Amino acid sequence: MSKRTIVAMPGDGIGRTVLNEAIRVLDAAGFKADYVEGDIGWEFWCKEGNPLPERTINLIKEHKIGLFGAITSKPKDEAFEELAPELKDKELVYSSPIVALRQYFGLDICLRPCRTYVGNPLNFIRRGRGEAIEEPEVDVAIFRQNTEGLYGGVEWSNPPKPVYDTLMSHPKFKKNFGHVPVEEISVSTRIFTKNATERILKAAFEYAKEHGYKSVTVCEKPNVIRETSGMMYKMALKMQKELYPEIQLWNTNIDAQMMWLTKNPETYGVIVAGNMFGDIVSDGFAGLIGGLGFACSAQINPETGVGVFEPTHGSAPKYADYPVSIVNPIAMIESACMMLDHLQENEIAHTIRAAVAKVIAEGKVRTYDMMKMSGAPDVVDKGAASTTEMADAIIRELKK
Ligand code: NAI
Ligand code: MG
Repeated sequence: MSKRTIVAMPGDGIGRTVLNEAIRVLDAAGFKADYVEGDIGWEFWCKEGNPLPERTINLIKEHKIGLFGAITSKPKDEAFEELAPELKDKELVYSSPIVALRQYFGLDICLRPCRTYVGNPLNFIRRGRGEAIEEPEVDVAIFRQNTEGLYGGVEWSNPPKPVYDTLMSHPKFKKNFGHVPVEEISVSTRIFTKNATERILKAAFEYAKEHGYKSVTVCEKPNVIRETSGMMYKMALKMQKELYPEIQLWNTNIDAQMMWLTKNPETYGVIVAGNMFGDIVSDGFAGLIGGLGFACSAQINPETGVGVFEPTHGSAPKYADYPVSIVNPIAMIESACMMLDHLQENEIAHTIRAAVAKVIAEGKVRTYDMMKMSGAPDVVDKGAASTTEMADAIIRELKK
């Protein structure tokens, strides 16, 4: 196995803690790599006016693989307040470096798998027939288009004249909004392109085929959002018919899907959606398998091979300065496993996942979230494992 270089981007708050623990687990599992630190996040916004410095972009260009912890984002005005005094007259505007990273490297394929770990006390349970309590086994892989749609950033408040004139040329805009003063109008666009839609659909179908899932569900709202959701579903129908006849294509609306996910989550396999609905449905499913301490993700450009792997949680600032960190490192460790999948280090990925599964099933070492405690500095005294103790338990299991 050749030695790789991974760009480790801790970011802010608990990002560094969970990333360090994941790297310890990777080392213990025998993954041979050098790690170079990529600067990203709030500190670099405040000091340099840029939360994603050019040097970090260059590191990813060079090494192609990034492990990312989490960043802190704050509203525009607060961001300006915290900017170094000498940068305040430079008309800098804060925007999220992780969104910028996705767009810069065209990381348009976002995969968020949600799988139940046997023995996780946070697993979703439901009432069955009579007195029965059921614990359905969730195993879904959510493919979220990661660069366009509602998060594409094409938006206006008080839209400029050419935009307003174009909007007015649409009969529905004219009828429903034509009487509203332009300065009272805000518009966020939802742009889907054929190319990106095709790529996310293809990624979803290929994954279903490779991993033996029987269905791909397009989770959008084509009956109402006819152009964008409609295009995605129409393209999925064609793709399924021509290339994946052995895989069933299902169609759910995002609102109904959020209701069904607590009724029959075990029914679904691969789910594919645009940027915002993919974000929503993946958080929904993550809630069924333990929440933020368990939710991992991969963001990939299949053409260049660039991939950034990150837990979906944020920097949890309220826990960042605890003398002993209490947060669950499993989401970050699972994200590192997704990096290993991408690098085709399947054996190491499998070994780590098996160790995590064993620790969860045994139930002796549990972080505060798994103990259903409210986060506080004294949870460790009350029996919860610290972040490091959880990683230690996984490493002990790896070494058995
Ligand atoms: P958050 O995910 O940081 O925290 C929400 C709550 O989830 C925390 O209070 C904590 O109870 C729990 N939590 C988070 N990670 C956990 C873990 N590993 N183990 C156990 N419990 C965990 O989201 P919040 O509070 O909305 O945002 C905090 C900051 O993070 C904000 O500045 C936000 O912009 C940023 N953020 C960054 C993301 C990223 O880097 N991709 C994603 C989401 C938020
Ligand atoms: Mg989200």
